[in-house]
Formats: sequence, structure tokens, C-alpha cells
Amino acid sequence: MAETLAVVNCSQLVTLAGPRRPRAGAEMRELSIIEDGALLTRGGRIERVGKRAEVEPHVGADCEVVDAGRRVVMPGFVDAHAHPVFAGNRADEFEKRAAGASYQEIAAAGGGIRSTVRRTRAASEEELFASALRRERWFLRTGTTTVEAKSGYGLTVEDELKMLRVVRRLNGEGKISYVPTFLGAHEVPEEYRARRGQYVDLVINEMLPRVADEELAEFCDVFCEERVFTVEESRRVLTAARSHGLGLRVHADQLSLSGGALVAAELKAKTADHLEHTDAAGIAALKSAGVQPVLLPGSAYTLGSGRYPAARAMIEAGLAVVVATDFNPGSSPTPSMTMILSLASTQLRMTPAESVTAATVNAAYSLDRGDRVGSLEADKRADFVIHDCGDYRELSYFFGVEHARTVFVAGREVFSRVRVAG
Ligand code: NIG
Ligand code: FE
Repeated sequence: MAETLAVVNCSQLVTLAGPRRPRAGAEMRELSIIEDGALLTRGGRIERVGKRAEVEPHVGADCEVVDAGRRVVMPGFVDAHAHPVFAGNRADEFEKRAAGASYQEIAAAGGGIRSTVRRTRAASEEELFASALRRERWFLRTGTTTVEAKSGYGLTVEDELKMLRVVRRLNGEGKISYVPTFLGAHEVPEEYRARRGQYVDLVINEMLPRVADEELAEFCDVFCEERVFTVEESRRVLTAARSHGLGLRVHADQLSLSGGALVAAELKAKTADHLEHTDAAGIAALKSAGVQPVLLPGSAYTLGSGRYPAARAMIEAGLAVVVATDFNPGSSPTPSMTMILSLASTQLRMTPAESVTAATVNAAYSLDRGDRVGSLEADKRADFVIHDCGDYRELSYFFGVEHARTVFVAGREVFSRVRVAG
């Protein structure tokens, strides 16, 4: 790889340059687009962005030059909520849901998360790694370069650690960056149904200390929901996680107004995710506590609930909204951030610009990566994508299209639709 790389002839260089913090309210519509822009990287970092005429004089003779062909160039997507490590799939349940069964009925009959837990426990670390690496390519093909990765399909000490070790290995051997989140409180496993309190104790007293000691996670998440973990149980797990130095995320108010947003606000979590049922009091609480909402329209779409979160009210309240895939085998089997951009505009009524901010710079800040990725600014890692369109709004508008043409991580090409078919 050449030490320096220049990308020239961008119809729009969507930089998202701006204040060094997540963007809220009207700021979410400011993408800092440079028409006829160019980008110069050195040693995997961004050195310079500007008009072509400003950047070209700095392009040395030994610099590799990529002609974007009047296409859009923008930061790689940052997917701030995903469950990409799991064994098997749930095509059987998908078929049952198509025939009328609900997600909750399937879960109550022993399916849902618990069916993926059975298969993930039975899988070796090697098998989990191989299947996650195959899915990594799905993420790359749609232009995602950073993915949050949750555990939560092991639900024993060893199986949770196994999942997080897979994430660590993906980070070393894969092409994209992963941010590990411990989600031991994703579901009460079968063997603890009659003694759920003991499972919460296991998460707090055995799983969390091991995860923290082995530095296997940066965040801890809890599924706070009726029939899963109560507000009180969620508070206990999250408080313990905080004492181990982990950042906090909460699956909140997804299927009912569970109180998840309020507990996220009370504990000053980094994010409250889902929020399909969050009301005005919850939105106000998130705002005063500085919690970022992570909206996951792929799950309401997949479940056919018709119940989407109140994104407009959140933006108007001044929250720094994030959108993400929630990629998982049950409620949101899509790795595609461009599919999420489409849903953000058609279902959440976010403008294409707001959605792009939510999928890049705001997402990066929600993962404590705002100083490194999420925008094209000097010193950040050169994670960017050439999309096969001339106007960034086409990413939201044409859906079901894989727009990403070439994907770069740290200044290196990691996926190209041009050079390699497939
Ligand atoms: O975010 N809500 C809980 N967890 C996932 C679903 C996981 C699954 O169905 O396997 C979610 O939607
Ligand atoms: Fe989730």
C-alpha cells in the first residue's frame, strides 16, 4: 500500500466536519458537503480534505490516486447496535411469523432469543468466528466500517466469554472495526426460568467481573422489557457494570413502555436503544441526562408492528439521534445501513441528511469513537466509501440497492465491487 492515497473527482465529498461532539436538532442537517471535493490520506489517516484544486497541489509523485468518477464519497457507516455473532438462523420462525404468529408468541413457546442461545452454546468458537466473518462481508458490501457487537446468545459464563472472544478475534483478523458490548442480560435462560434472581446474580457476580478482568467489552447492555428484565433488575446489572468501568447501553421500551428510557436516563447511560414506546416524559428524561437515542427501524419493519419510535419529537427535543441496524437473526435480519436510511426517511420521517448524520458521526460518538471515525476530518482514520451515485440523497431514496462501490478502512481498499465480483 502506498503511504499516501488521494481520492479526487468526488461529486460530493460528504465530510460531516463540524463541532467535535454529537450533532443535535438542526445541526443534524449540516453535512458539510464539498462539491468537486478531494481527500488525501497518509499512513491510514486523513491528512487533508477540500476542493479538488486545493488538495491536488499536495498530491506527491508517489501518491496513489483514485478517481471517484463524479461519485459520492462519505465516511463509512458506523453501526452502533448489532448482534453479529450467533449460530444458525431463524428462517423457520420467520416463516411462522409470515403465517401470523407473533414474535412474543414464538418466544413464549421457547423460540426467539432462546432458540439462538441453544445453537450458539452448541457452536465452537471457531464456528462462530467463521460465520461472523462471512457476515462481515455483508456489512462491508453496504459501506459499514465500524460495527458494535453484542454478546447475549451464550447466557452462561463460558458461552458469553466465548462470544466476546470471537468479537476480539474479528477485531484483529477481520477488515472492519468492532466495538464489544456485554449483553449477558439479554434473556433469562431456560435453566433459570424458575429462579431468575439467581441468573441476575450470575451476571453481576460472575460474568461481569470476568468480562472486565479480561477486557472483553467496552459497554454493557440490558434488555429491559416486560417478561425479560425488570427496571429493578436492569438497574442492578447496569450499576454493577458501571462500577467495573463499562459504558452503559439499554434495550429500552421496545415492545412496551417498560421504563427502560427512564432507567437509562437515571444512570446516565451512553445510549437508550429502540424506544418504540417511549413517551414525552422519556424523551425529556433522555434529553436532560444527555443520553443518545439509538433508533432501530429494521426491527419494527421486520416484526410488522407498525410501531416506530418518535424520531421527529426526539430531534425537536434536541437529542443527538443515532440510527442502526440491530442486525440479529430474529427481529432485524439486515446488515444494511442503507436499508436503515430508507426506513429512517419513510417511517421515521427523518430527512436524508439527518439520517446520514445519525448513521455516521452521531453513531461514532455513541460508541466513544467520535474522535476517530464518523466524519472526514484531518487526523481521523481514513474509513470512507465511494458510493455509486452522484447525490447522497440517493442512498436513502433508492432502496434495496447496494450503493457501495469501493470501501476503504484506514486508507486501504477492503471491498471493491469493481475489481472483485461477488
Ligand atoms: O434488539 N430486543 C432484544 N434483542 C434483539 C432481538 C434478538 C433476537 O430476536 O434474537 C433486538 O431486537
Ligand atoms: Fe438489539
